[in-house]
Amino acid sequence: MKATKTLILAAGHGTRMVSEKPKVLHEVCGKAMVDYVIDASRGAGIDDVGVIVGYKADVVRAALPEGVVAVEQTEQLGTGHAVIQALPFFENFEGNLLVLVGDAPLVRKETLEGMIAVHEAGGFAATVLTAVFEDPTGYGRIVKEGDALIKIVEHKDATEEERAIKEINSGMYCFDAAALREALKSLRADNAQKEYYLTDTIEILRAAGKKVGSYPTPEITDIAAVNSKVQLAEIEKIMRKRINTALMEKGAIIIDPDSTYLSPDTVVGRDTVLYPGVITQGKVTIGDNCIVGHNTRIVDSAIGDGVDIQSSTILESTVDDGTHVGPYAYLRPNSKIGKNVKVGDFVEVKNATMKDGAKASHLTYIGDAEVGRNVNLGCGTVFVNYDGVHKFKTVVEDNCFIGCNSNLVSPVTVKEGSYVAAGSTITQDVPEDSLAIARARQVNKEGYALTMDQLKK
Ligand code: UD1
Ligand code: CA
Repeated sequence: MKATKTLILAAGHGTRMVSEKPKVLHEVCGKAMVDYVIDASRGAGIDDVGVIVGYKADVVRAALPEGVVAVEQTEQLGTGHAVIQALPFFENFEGNLLVLVGDAPLVRKETLEGMIAVHEAGGFAATVLTAVFEDPTGYGRIVKEGDALIKIVEHKDATEEERAIKEINSGMYCFDAAALREALKSLRADNAQKEYYLTDTIEILRAAGKKVGSYPTPEITDIAAVNSKVQLAEIEKIMRKRINTALMEKGAIIIDPDSTYLSPDTVVGRDTVLYPGVITQGKVTIGDNCIVGHNTRIVDSAIGDGVDIQSSTILESTVDDGTHVGPYAYLRPNSKIGKNVKVGDFVEVKNATMKDGAKASHLTYIGDAEVGRNVNLGCGTVFVNYDGVHKFKTVVEDNCFIGCNSNLVSPVTVKEGSYVAAGSTITQDVPEDSLAIARARQVNKEGYALTMDQLKK
């Protein structure tokens, strides 16, 4: 492959989205559409990427991944005009310039590679990625003589005869950069939309004696662009299927792929079972032989092997091998859960470590804490980490047993091997190997009830 750059058109508002948000930032499976296009380009080995921004340029620019160049088009005067604004991005550049669109997130690296291969083998100055649509309404039509590409004509400018053509322009191309620079000089806005059409460069190049070609997309879904929220949902469905299929091919078991919502940056190990309603967002890795039960949501987290998670929420945390989570557990950011731990029902953990073998089987809050190995936290243990202004840390060292319904008022440490009696409110450190009882002593008043009965008569 020759030296290649990619330019992505993304200046439009996308009025039909009925949204304040720039179209290319709308998300598919939790990731901005334009990011998929950038990733496809990078996947094909093209790291030099420019994006044309216009509507809410600052918002789009700020959202672009590092290393991507933003070029501003202040007025949207057409796709040709957009590329002219980006001339500095490819001035003096000898090689291929891919022109893609930011609202077609399904484009795959294989398709880009195929287009570039055809472009180079054919010695073309421009190669258009095309598709055959049963209903081509609205798209630019590919006008050919035999197999030879003649021109692209926009729907609004097309004759009846041209409108009958079913081969359409995807809006994605591979150009010879130098030839494109030359052709752009001849663009005129003398058409139905009074816009500078990038598509006119095809005719211009031909008139200049250059060869142009087309590449029918190997995968029809690759070129689908999003213009409305209905289409966004359709594309999301296709993307979901792609993500899930790829994971199943690598060994994951997804019981119902239609109702399992995984981010493109999710990795799932072998024989891990995902039940319906599982959602992952951001970068998530799940190891081998796990069970991820229904309606579990995992965001930016790493899960080890053999972990069992039931109907729980896990945010920016790690869970190590053999651990049980849930049902209805809530792991908030920066929870580090060790091996063979139990985080049971209605347990919330925040910014805390639970070392190997620790257990909080039910109804417990663990915040800003370190829980040692094999510690058992009884039902209803509360780490009282907040005084209304400050947050403090609690440490429960290895092999401690905290009785039910205890409060550990931080900052406080329960030293190794100690017991805390049920119902205690611990405000002072507990030395090792001891029993702390911090509750009112029980008093039994014998015969009291009988006296009360007398008074009632
Ligand atoms: C364009 C093509 C058409 C093709 C279709 C595929 C032209 C003249 N026509 O038409 O042949 O079938 O795409 O979807 O190119 N954009 C800018 N700046 C502008 C105008 C557009 O950045 O001034 C961006 C848009 O944000 C969008 C892309 O270019 O990402 C395509 O623009 P759009 O208006 O959707 O083009 P179509 O008229 O649909
Ligand atoms: Ca248009």
